[in-house]
Amino acid sequence: MRIVLGVTGGIAAYKAAHVLRGLRERGHAVRVVPTEAALRFVGAATWEALSGEPVTTSVFEGVERVEHVRIGHEADLVVVAPATADLLARARMGLADDLLTATLLTATCPVVAAPAMHTEMWFNPATVDNVAVLRTRGWTVIEPASGRLTGADTGPGRLPEPDDIIREALAATGRSASPAERTSDSTPAGSSSRTGVSAEDRTGAHGEGEPGPLHGVEVVVSAGGTREPLDPVRFLGNRSSGKQGAALAAAAAHAGARTTLVAANVDSGVLAELPGTVAVDEVSTTAELEAACTSHASTADVLIMAAAVADYRPAETATHKMKKSGDDLTIALVENPDILRGLVEARDAGRSRTGQILVGFAAETGSPDKPADVLAQEKLLRKGCDLLVFNDVSGDRAFGTDDNSVIVYRPGPGGAEEVARSDGSKADVSNDVIAAVAAERSR
Ligand code: C5P
Repeated sequence: MRIVLGVTGGIAAYKAAHVLRGLRERGHAVRVVPTEAALRFVGAATWEALSGEPVTTSVFEGVERVEHVRIGHEADLVVVAPATADLLARARMGLADDLLTATLLTATCPVVAAPAMHTEMWFNPATVDNVAVLRTRGWTVIEPASGRLTGADTGPGRLPEPDDIIREALAATGRSASPAERTSDSTPAGSSSRTGVSAEDRTGAHGEGEPGPLHGVEVVVSAGGTREPLDPVRFLGNRSSGKQGAALAAAAAHAGARTTLVAANVDSGVLAELPGTVAVDEVSTTAELEAACTSHASTADVLIMAAAVADYRPAETATHKMKKSGDDLTIALVENPDILRGLVEARDAGRSRTGQILVGFAAETGSPDKPADVLAQEKLLRKGCDLLVFNDVSGDRAFGTDDNSVIVYRPGPGGAEEVARSDGSKADVSNDVIAAVAAERSR
C-alpha cells in the first residue's frame, strides 16, 4: 500500500519514527507529511532517511506536481500519529492551511488518527465533539493510552504504542490484521482500541462449509454499558457486562454474518473469547456509541442494540479531579439521544440501508402498576424497532451472569406479538435471537 503518515507537533512525534519503520518493514511505501510544528520535534532529515521519500510541509512546495492533491489521491491509507488537538480541530473544520490538512481533504481512503495530548485537552468538549464528528465521517480515531504525559501529569492522552497504531491502522483498510495481531495482548494498560477486520476478511462460518442463515449479511451488535465522565477519573455508568451482546455477535458470526461488535466498556476477557471473524469497535461514552452505530448503519443489514445506554450525561465534565467541598454536591444531567430511535428514524427516512432490521433490548423490572413484559411491549411500539428482546432483570437476573431468559416481540396488527421465547445460557439465547432475526429478514 501507499501510506501517508501525517505527523503533528507533539512530543510523541518521535514515536512516529517507529510507526514509519514498522510500516516499511511490512512492505508498505510511506510518505511522511509532517506539520511545521512536528519538524520542531523531529527534523525532515529523519523522515526522509527512514521513508526514502521527500518531505514537505507546505502546499507551496512541489506546486508543479500538484502535491496537495496528488498525495491524498494516491494514498491507500492515511495515518496521523500523533494527532494533536489542533490537527483534529482543523480536520473537523475542513481547513487546508498546510500540506497535511490539504491531503486529508483530498484523500478518499481510510483515515486513522492516533491522538496524543494532555488529558484536559482530550476531555475538553471541543475535542470530544471534534472526535465524534470525525468518527461519523468514517475516521478511525484510536483512544489514547493512559499514563505518564510530558510533564509530571498522568492520565488518558498518551500516544498508544507504535505496534498498536500499526495494527489498528492496517485493520482499518481490511488488508491486515492477521489473527495473531488481532489477539495480541500488546494494548497498553488503561487504553482502549478500535480493532477491525475487513468485510472481505470476515467470511463467517456455519458448520462444515455450509452457508448459515445470515450468510453474507452485515450485522452490527452493540454491547456493554456506556460511561459518562464526570472528571478525568470518575464516570456515571451501569452494571452491564457486555456478555449478552458478545454472545449475540458470536452467534451472528456463526450464522455466517459479517459481524461487528460495538463494545462499550466490555471486559477484555469477554472480547478475547469472540470468534476471530468478529470485528470490534471499542467505544466508551453514549456520544461515541452513537457515532459508531450511525456510521455502521449506512451499510448494516441488521443492527442489534444490546448495549445499556446511559439516558443522561453530566452537563459538564470537569477537566480536573473534583474535590470535596464539605457541602452536598448537585450534578446537572442532560438527556442523551435515543440512539435506537434515531436509527429507526434514519432508516424510515431513507438515510440508511433500505430494509435494515433494527433490534432493541428492554431490561425491565416491572413497575407498581405494570408487569415487566407489558412495559417491554410498550417499548417496542414506542421505539418503532422491528424486534424487541425483553429480559426480566428483577432480582439481579441477567447482569453479569452466564444465563438469561428472554421473550422476543415484533409489532403485529393488534400490538406486540411474541415470536420467540428462550431460556438458557447467553450463547443459547443468542442463537434463538439470531434465528428470530433471520426469520424477520425473510418475512
Ligand atoms: O429506553 P431503554 O433504555 O429501556 O431502551 C433500551 C433499548 O434502547 C436498548 O436496545 C438500548 O440499546 C437502546 N437505547 C438507545 N439509546 C438510548 C437508550 C437506549 O439506543 N439513549
